[in-house]
Amino acid sequence: MTHTLTLVRPDDWHLHLRDGAMLKAVLPETTRHFARAIIMPNLVPPVVTMADASAYKARILAAMPKGDSFTPLMTLYLTEETNPDDLAAAHAAGLISAVKLYPAGATTNSASGVADFDKVRPVLERMAEIGCPLCVHGEVTDRDIDIFDREAVFIDRVLDPIRRAVPELRVVMEHITTKDGADYVKANPERLGATITVQHLMLDRNDMLVGGMRPHYYCLPILKRRDHREALLAAATSGDARFFLGTDSAPHPTHAKESECCSAGCFTAPVALACLAQTFDDAGALDKLEGFTSLHGPAFYGLPVNTDTVILTKSDSPVTFPKEIKNGADPVTVFNPGSPVYWSAP
Ligand code: DOR
Ligand code: ZN
Repeated sequence: MTHTLTLVRPDDWHLHLRDGAMLKAVLPETTRHFARAIIMPNLVPPVVTMADASAYKARILAAMPKGDSFTPLMTLYLTEETNPDDLAAAHAAGLISAVKLYPAGATTNSASGVADFDKVRPVLERMAEIGCPLCVHGEVTDRDIDIFDREAVFIDRVLDPIRRAVPELRVVMEHITTKDGADYVKANPERLGATITVQHLMLDRNDMLVGGMRPHYYCLPILKRRDHREALLAAATSGDARFFLGTDSAPHPTHAKESECCSAGCFTAPVALACLAQTFDDAGALDKLEGFTSLHGPAFYGLPVNTDTVILTKSDSPVTFPKEIKNGADPVTVFNPGSPVYWSAP
């Protein structure tokens, strides 16, 4: 017997599309299912000015598969040199929807990120004034902080002080991975939201490390222990509108993942909706899926809810996902949760 579930068309509030051939290869995997996405600016070199964002948006639109309708919501990469007037002009023009803060060295292409948070205070104050949200990669980068503790320490040492210093600033904690992150959002109802990825709802660090190391599960922030995953799942399925989907789908060529020094990122875009439906179904919370994928994000960003729908289908036997997508000589391995998924998206 086949069941179906109709959802308001989802949006992805955190997405890496890259550039050039990779952009062309991965974009259809998002536009097939999602109406809009917040586009991460961590290109090489990063998207730091209004002119950069405008040119990148044009490249994305030029790479669009025919017949799909999709709106890229652009972001700027915050640096210690960001010009508040340029940022404000990009926001006033409707070109950017948010600004991304990467602590310097936290993750893929984050070398130009912020090391001294006091230096960006005037930019953050201007953002608060004009209502431009800050999307935060919430990990400290100090070598003496264990990688599994970096999110919790970031909240105490960086995020909370920023929010106290600039209380009117709207902040999205991107890809939260810990109970600490979920609890911080719940305890701070004003001007704060959080995205959660597919892999952090489905997997814990044992899935990545026990019985062999699985590079396709390596992302940043890194998968945590099971009780953290359970806290994230509870938040995502609670119906609380401050939690919404940001896949953080982050394509890397398979050879860069299956290498001596594996790149961070899970390429989940092709399977995100199917995996989420399975996860919410397993949690007995299918009725909360549409809020998480399609309603809470627009509410946070002050955007209209999409008017069309997607229909998900549940089969009697598990679906098989493509192992990889083509990208010239550099195919990209598709995320496989390693557990049966009975749901599929068109
Ligand atoms: O795993 C990740 N991959 N985390 C990030 O923050 C960046 C991303 C990427 O760009 O590959
Ligand atoms: Zn990301």
